[in-house]
Amino acid sequence: MIVDGQHPAAIAQAAQALAEGKLLGLPTETVYGLAANADDEQAVAQIFAAKGRPSNHPLIVHIAHHRVEQAVAHYAQAVPLFAQQLMDAFWPGALTLILPRRPHAAVASTGGQDSVGLRCPAHPVAQALLEACQQLQPPYAPIWGLSAPSANQFGRISPTTATHVAGEFGADLLVLDGGACQVGIESTIIDCTRDVPVLLRPGSISRSAIEQACGLAPLDKEALATPAPRASGTLLAHYAPNAKLRLMAASQLQAAVEMLGAEAKNIAIYHRSPLRTATNGLILRPMPSDAHQAARQLFSDLRAMDALGVALIWVEAPPNAPEWEGVRDRLQRAAAAG
Ligand code: TXA
Ligand code: MG
Repeated sequence: MIVDGQHPAAIAQAAQALAEGKLLGLPTETVYGLAANADDEQAVAQIFAAKGRPSNHPLIVHIAHHRVEQAVAHYAQAVPLFAQQLMDAFWPGALTLILPRRPHAAVASTGGQDSVGLRCPAHPVAQALLEACQQLQPPYAPIWGLSAPSANQFGRISPTTATHVAGEFGADLLVLDGGACQVGIESTIIDCTRDVPVLLRPGSISRSAIEQACGLAPLDKEALATPAPRASGTLLAHYAPNAKLRLMAASQLQAAVEMLGAEAKNIAIYHRSPLRTATNGLILRPMPSDAHQAARQLFSDLRAMDALGVALIWVEAPPNAPEWEGVRDRLQRAAAAG
């Protein structure tokens, strides 16, 4: 059931459902999440079951901004200076920080790892809900954080509207409608459990923005001696549509289109440059030229092309520029899944 997240009654209903151990479709500025009380092991187990996600893949815990220090202290054992600087600069917002975990907190959410991923989302509906969760009155206990992976079946495209979420999990799930997500790709993830920040997943907050805020350039996870913690958003084959997706340079795409001849079926083209083609039956969709706009539309455009039942999606590779790193990353993973 989709309810309007603007209504205080819907927020109260959602907070109560979470307190009773139920799951909720949660709008955030990045993508929609499938949320449960982070400290309720049975509820968290239901997230893994509903998604078909291996239970050793840790979930991000979302916390309220109005008492953010207490919420961080509830879950994290320690906060290094550079992590504090990143929180001050980017929270509430599309940044997840991996911190040493406090014993006994969010055990099921973290798959038993000794770290916890924390994010304070910027979406006003998410914040209204997180605040209502902290202020729950008896017989309910306050909820300090909500575990929420993206609200899609494991390995599939993340949802950016309430309707996408209902399509993934059916009409029984309560979904707070917060409109279309403004960022559109998942949060940037920074591992803060070492002496320096390590970029685990690129997102809308770029490496250079991270460096500016804390004075340290984030390392790549590939550069680490010991393996980084498991991160399913970082599996190579992830974010996959049903169609086979191929990434091509502009000239390669143009040449491939010219080879098609007069008629083509079941091919969608997500292009950036204008295409010269006399081929009938091609489905053409332009990718926005601005990186943030492209991120905002990426998943819903992929879903829309997929929904047409095409067998192939040919994508013109985005520029090799820093602001495109998040979009490039998601497209590379989708291509690897084919
Ligand atoms: O934007 C987002 O981050 C969205 C919205 C809903 O907030 N959430 C999201 O969740 O993308 P999910 O579960 O699809 O991706 C969470 C990522 C995974 O790659 C997970 O492994 C990683 O965060 N992660 C969470 N806790 C971690 C930890 N303790 N150590 C390492 N990675 C962690
Ligand atoms: Mg995901």
